[in-house]
Amino acid sequence: MSAAAKTELAGEFKKLPRHIAVIMDGNGRWAQRQGLPRTAGHSAGADSFHRAARYCQKLGIEYLTVYAFSTENWKRPREEVDAILELLERYLRQALQDMEKEKVRIRIFGDLSPFTPQLRDMCRACMERSAVYTGAQVNICLNYGGRDEIVRAAERWAAEGCPPLSEERFGSYMWGGDVPDPDLLIRPGGEKRISNFLLWELAYTELYFSDVLWPDFDEAELDKAIDAYRHRQRRFGDVGQEA
Ligand code: FPP
Repeated sequence: MSAAAKTELAGEFKKLPRHIAVIMDGNGRWAQRQGLPRTAGHSAGADSFHRAARYCQKLGIEYLTVYAFSTENWKRPREEVDAILELLERYLRQALQDMEKEKVRIRIFGDLSPFTPQLRDMCRACMERSAVYTGAQVNICLNYGGRDEIVRAAERWAAEGCPPLSEERFGSYMWGGDVPDPDLLIRPGGEKRISNFLLWELAYTELYFSDVLWPDFDEAELDKAIDAYRHRQRRFGDVGQEA
């Protein structure tokens, strides 16, 4: 390979997102289209999440943040809420078992207080035991809302006696205050909105929308999203460089 080609390749690799965030939308419609209950869609969505997490790890993407359950999702029928929480519990139980093999750091962002002691314990155990892994990190947003996160950040700041603020300092009060902002947000399922996800952190994130439903969002779809990202020019308010 020529030196120029190597440099170009290295440049391309640099443009891989460090942090991908995903709104895992379309599970219910995926199930309905197949004549299955909505809960079957969430189960397929959980499989899709697992596949995405492994693929991101394989690609060397450092952070994957997923919206698993929002502060608004309590409005859903009890049966559906229970099914989603059961899937999470199953995932966390498996993650605890496979931890030494998978070597992924798991963090949960959101207020866990309304959950059962069992689910809370499992979240805590996963976070504590996986904290030693530094290669890949999966952040699961659970009972999470972007506005709620900002209000809690303000409360924490006030509780510390309102020290002088900067954007960076205020960001450190967020659930993932030490995590770099997402480079790429993927929303499958056809809707084009943020739905109260990572309102603070998405300020300069590249947005990618797809009509593919989350359970069908496989490695090839992730490749398409990453490829689209790599062709974007990120300017962060600057004028950018001429091609
Ligand atoms: C949105 O699709 C999806 C959710 C509210 C739940 C996502 C949860 C999971 C994928 C399962 C558990 C997660 C993990 C991390 C193991 P929707 O139901 O709003 O879809 P629709 O728009 O087609 O109705």
